[in-house]
Amino acid sequence: MDMLMFQLERNSSKPMYEQLCEGIKKGITEGTIPTESKLPSKRKLAEFLNISQTTIELAYAQLLAEGFIASKPRVGYFVEAVEELAYVEKNIQYPAIPTSLSRETFNIDFNPGQIDTESFPFHLWRKYAKEAIDEQSQELLLIGSPQGEQELREEIATYLYQSRGVICAPNQIVIGSGTEQLMPMIIRLLGPSSRFAIENPGYPLTHHIFKQTDRPAIPINVDDEGLLINDLEHSKANVVYVTPSHQFPTGAVLSAPRRAQLLNWASQKNDRYIIEDDYDSEFRYIGKPIAALQGMDKSDSVIYISTFSKSLMPSLRIAYFVLPPKLVEVYNQAFNYYTSTVPRFEQHILAQFMRDGHFAKHLNRMRKIYRKKLEKLTMALEPFSPTVKISGEQAGMHIVLTISHTKSAAELKDLAQEKGIRIIPIQEYMMDPILNGKPTQFLLGFGGIKDEEISQSVQQLMEAWGIRA
Ligand SMILES: Cc1ncc(COP(=O)(O)O)c(C=O)c1O
Repeated sequence: MDMLMFQLERNSSKPMYEQLCEGIKKGITEGTIPTESKLPSKRKLAEFLNISQTTIELAYAQLLAEGFIASKPRVGYFVEAVEELAYVEKNIQYPAIPTSLSRETFNIDFNPGQIDTESFPFHLWRKYAKEAIDEQSQELLLIGSPQGEQELREEIATYLYQSRGVICAPNQIVIGSGTEQLMPMIIRLLGPSSRFAIENPGYPLTHHIFKQTDRPAIPINVDDEGLLINDLEHSKANVVYVTPSHQFPTGAVLSAPRRAQLLNWASQKNDRYIIEDDYDSEFRYIGKPIAALQGMDKSDSVIYISTFSKSLMPSLRIAYFVLPPKLVEVYNQAFNYYTSTVPRFEQHILAQFMRDGHFAKHLNRMRKIYRKKLEKLTMALEPFSPTVKISGEQAGMHIVLTISHTKSAAELKDLAQEKGIRIIPIQEYMMDPILNGKPTQFLLGFGGIKDEEISQSVQQLMEAWGIRA
């Protein structure tokens, strides 16, 4: 064979030798380069294609390694018989990902899911991880309890009693890989005849889950004292999902009279349940911590659920629920066949971290860090009052901004986005957003914003919205 003609693209992201290699392979498998024919010498082909001899060398070496050609010393390269080798076109076209599913990056991210990543105790976590991944831990290679590691459930039970007033035994606890995995489990556990009520606005995950499982949930409005229990009483629901310590997203704390009213509602019928999501209760900045509803429940009707996503890291994917004793047997019957969704090593590391008191220390430290961030944030926002008002700042890692503006929340969101700022309007957390007469409100998560960048971030947001101090 005298020569081989290929169209090589110099500006392609694919290296030239790969393009050449693929072209020759294609020729061989399609028969345009006959078996046993001699390939042009490297020097001649390099001259002909006007590319470097090294490129040809690399391509031939690859073809040799894959068995498409053979080398005869001092004679050259010859094409092998490869009919049986189907040539697979490497040029796979991946479907484009719709933008709503892609994870966009922002210069300033006020998304409430962010945490302060700089303060994570990597050295300690590394120490426990190193200790766990060891021959001594052979037991952890086997399937563990479907409810999660006993040692971790013991630590969680102690922690919940001491810090949240939750009263439970380790066998009432079920560990799973996030609230989002545990909620569908609770819904299945409570059976097909249950009618669910959820907060409106509320945690979008619950909206999605009920939509996806074809179980229409009844939206119950919230005000600045939390869920409107009167509305719940007038609904047909027998199970209600609430975030009483720090309502998501409004930040309201369920008031003491409403707590009593809610527990009374649940105690009136045997099939009534409260799902109490205590997701960020560790971080309370004003007044005394408010104990969980679970500890005040006298009728076995609270299913308590919480997560390590806020207190440690969202990527850990460890959350848990606490069943009332009367549901433990129902759980065992329905779910004991399944394996825990959290790797045992991860559970073991967390259990040791908690056992040695590091979780409590970490929380104390983080509470101070988030409190400082909140103070800086409120100070930075103060000059923009009364155009911008703050609420929901008693706890957690987000606040609510109420804005007086001629533009709509959706328009303001877009304006921020154009400047690389992510901030989400409250209406996006509503089941059926009816906006007439509703104030323009935004959720501002501050957990992930660096301390020294808070003031500047607020400034940029206000500039994007055209709000002056
Ligand atoms: C109300 C609420 N519950 C739970 C979670 C945590 O969910 P997960 O445990 O799936 O990370 C969040 C996180 O933002 C939340 O806002």
